[in-house]
Amino acid sequence: RILIIDFGSQVTQLIARRVREAGVYSEIVPFNKAADVLDSFKPAGIILSGGPASVTQMDTPRAPEAVFSYGVPILGICYGQQTICAQMGGAVEGSDEREFGRAEVDIKEPCALFDGVWAKGDKAQVWMSHGDRVLRLPDGFKVVGVSENAPYAAIANDDKRIYGVQFHPEVVHTPDGARLLANFVLNICGAKGDWTMAAFRETAIAAVRKQVGTGRVICGLSGGVDSSVVAVLLHEAIGDQLTCVFVDHGLMRHGEADEVVSLFRNHYKINLIHKDVSDMFLGRLDGVSDPEKKRKIIGASFIEVFEEEAKSIGGADFLAQGTLYPDVIESVSFVGGPSVTIKSHHNVGGLPERMNMKLVEPLRELFKDEVRLLGRELGLPQHFIGRHPFPGPGLAIRIPGEITREKLDILRKADAIYLEEIRAAGLYDQIWQAFAVLLPVRTVGVMGDARTYEYVCALRAVTSTDGMTAESYPYEHAFIARVATRIINNVRGINRVVYDVTSKPPGTIEWE
Ligand code: XMP
Repeated sequence: RILIIDFGSQVTQLIARRVREAGVYSEIVPFNKAADVLDSFKPAGIILSGGPASVTQMDTPRAPEAVFSYGVPILGICYGQQTICAQMGGAVEGSDEREFGRAEVDIKEPCALFDGVWAKGDKAQVWMSHGDRVLRLPDGFKVVGVSENAPYAAIANDDKRIYGVQFHPEVVHTPDGARLLANFVLNICGAKGDWTMAAFRETAIAAVRKQVGTGRVICGLSGGVDSSVVAVLLHEAIGDQLTCVFVDHGLMRHGEADEVVSLFRNHYKINLIHKDVSDMFLGRLDGVSDPEKKRKIIGASFIEVFEEEAKSIGGADFLAQGTLYPDVIESVSFVGGPSVTIKSHHNVGGLPERMNMKLVEPLRELFKDEVRLLGRELGLPQHFIGRHPFPGPGLAIRIPGEITREKLDILRKADAIYLEEIRAAGLYDQIWQAFAVLLPVRTVGVMGDARTYEYVCALRAVTSTDGMTAESYPYEHAFIARVATRIINNVRGINRVVYDVTSKPPGTIEWE
């Protein structure tokens, strides 16, 4: 197993993910807790993450000294590399020649990290994001790779088996990065590479049992992949200590409610309360058009309903949620200071202070595709596992501007047609997420011989691997034209359809 020491990088979880992909178990600890766990964790290797601080300043995070005398291989990434140099007798400087984005590294020497990936003389494509850089290496280190603005882009001390890279091997923009990390954990650290989702399932179940004890857990079930996996996992861990609440906020898609009730109540025999609170939600959203306000209202109302339901079953101690890593990273602050709130994610932000249940979030470290693997492991039906993500606030954030029942009906119909066509064309599994958005704009059209003045429907479809970046799906024109015709012919209230070609960034996947 591998210990990842976190210095607050936004992508530390990606390191853990790459290590998991190599079949090796890892855990992340904050830098200031690392010394406490070292002996009990017994890592086969240690990875020091990147981070937002500068090692050139006083009082910025350092790795515990014990890490360097522990005797297992160490890999430092970005800030991790710099702190290795600063702590082992080298020097780091702030640099005006900062590097952000794609860079090329000249491979100067063979290195165990590069085995089978890069050879001496190769020009390797990598992703950089740094202001500081190493100025002088500690004794025993050599340079194995150089980039334009980082003379120490990759360094190695073969005797001590300590390595450092200025670039980020964990992100997809370093195309060979995953193989470098696999080299580190498998070859250099000698980890076995036999860890799987089956093992995650066991670990997660044990962790839930430990956290919950004999307590009662209430779980919001939406029928999406995340909450479905949480519900089944928890049911396996704690059986009838779990009650699921399906909050029907009136913002679901066509046919969704029935499907959820039949799978979880009838098939899995999970205690499920189906709560129709659409009047309450739509009432509170009446006249609200600001996206953040909508999200806050929905988030707060959800919690309110949970609390009521928890009372009605005689009290619950925990609230279980299918929070994933990308939700966490876009919603919370990190060690180096707050990262900007892009959206208040429904399942993380907006929780009122007065909420008096503790959170159980067994998927907090995972990315979407890993949750799907876990779902498969748990035996959930393929059409549930393969489902596109659907946001907690539902159709509310797919109707920019004010929400009305009429608009919801229109959107539901258009969305159902769109998804039906995608499935019929065999495209569903190639797309990360596809949905219709009802714009608060009406335009003039002509149908039959009559003038129409109706809403515009925008169609969205993106490819992505983790929801953090995305690209618009390149449909054949004939396909999108067919969908547009069907929608306009069949959905009263829409007379124009447009396709959204924005990637993320700069757009987000949802429109609000
Ligand atoms: P954005 O729009 O931020 O979305 O690019 C990234 C992914 O997150 C989903 N999403 C949410 N999921 N609660 C959720 O559970 C939310 O409040 C929420 N907002 C966005 C979105 O559908 C996409 O998959």
